[in-house]
Amino acid sequence: MTDTATRATRDYIEQAERFGARNYAPVEVVITRGEGCFLWDVEGRRYYDFLSAYSAVNQGHCHPRIVQALVEQAQRLTLTSRAFHNDRMGDMLEKIAELTGFQRVLPMNTGAEAVETAIKAMRRWGYLVKGVPDGKAEIIVAEDNFHGRTTTIVGFSSDPDAYAHFGPPTPGFVRVPYGDAAALEAALGPNTVGVLLEPIQGEAGVIIPPDDYLPRVRAACTRARALLCLDEIQTGLGRTGKMFAYEHVGACPDLLVLGKALSGGVYPVSCVAGLSEVMELFTPGTHGSTYGGNPLAAAVATAALEVLVDEGLPERAARLGAHALARLRAELTSPGVREVRGRGLMLAVELKAPAAKQAVRALKDAGVLAKDTHKTTIRFAPALVIDDEDLDRALDLIVPVLNRA
Ligand SMILES: Cc1ncc(COP(=O)(O)O)c(C=O)c1O
Repeated sequence: MTDTATRATRDYIEQAERFGARNYAPVEVVITRGEGCFLWDVEGRRYYDFLSAYSAVNQGHCHPRIVQALVEQAQRLTLTSRAFHNDRMGDMLEKIAELTGFQRVLPMNTGAEAVETAIKAMRRWGYLVKGVPDGKAEIIVAEDNFHGRTTTIVGFSSDPDAYAHFGPPTPGFVRVPYGDAAALEAALGPNTVGVLLEPIQGEAGVIIPPDDYLPRVRAACTRARALLCLDEIQTGLGRTGKMFAYEHVGACPDLLVLGKALSGGVYPVSCVAGLSEVMELFTPGTHGSTYGGNPLAAAVATAALEVLVDEGLPERAARLGAHALARLRAELTSPGVREVRGRGLMLAVELKAPAAKQAVRALKDAGVLAKDTHKTTIRFAPALVIDDEDLDRALDLIVPVLNRA
């Protein structure tokens, strides 16, 4: 590392800190280039990216096929708004419908917007179809949920960092412990219009519920005439070793929320896919977004989904994830490690002490970028295109660092 390079890194960070709002605490590294499972910093140092932009980059950084779709479309047409049809959106919607098995898809941009869309869909269905008295709709959510950052969504968060001083919270949400089907069953009532859950809680630290949890929730929702909405923004599109995480336990939702890897990290694209009975309740003027469904997003998402299928990335995640989990479980022998857990390439190591931030710093120094969550947990989520040798090389770097934790 030269003096100039050291200064350059510090300069970038100071500039961002001087002019930006301080709503993030990034790892002290300035990235300038990415390819596949690798990132390079401004000093030319290469890292294994084991965060993958919180699982947005399942297809790997700058996947050539997705980038080509972006470039070609950017030279032709980028935005019309939904005031007009465009010649790319249909392909994306058809592809998502085919992949999810749902009849109708509503495209948005960010994950939080898609979650908001699902909340609106559930409420609308509750009033117009279930017959819940106006203004009384309830949606059941889980403790330690993470669904995004809008005022409504943070209003039903149990994390004070997310909700404190952003109130008053939007009414109509009931929170129950995650993974406890009996508690959820008990919370279902005549005014419940839906249940909103992550099939595996990502931001909470890769929390995997018991295998019978989602099937029991599914059955209870059907009995109580409530919609089941799964937020697969982080777990979906191959990350856990299946195209969708709910497939591991066979509990099909009524609404499925997707984002992140829907565009392979190239452009913000999200959507809600769902039953016609629900999605058809949106009529012209009741919902929308200037950029939602734009031709650039559609071209990128179509390519991103083709890459997932053509390269067999969910199957790859299953195979490599099992290998990584077995290695970490066998080799992390330090008494400082409380638990290693994961499904597919969505992995986490929980430490006994609140030392995850220090571990992340040491991992960076060793050449692996990851991020801590909730003080004790480090998540590992490499791009699903990582090859066997690179995964093993990265694990060779990770194990000694965490055994010192
Ligand atoms: C499960 C889940 N839902 C929603 C979101 C919010 O997505 P976005 O940051 O694109 O708004 C995230 C982001 O981390 C997420 O993991």
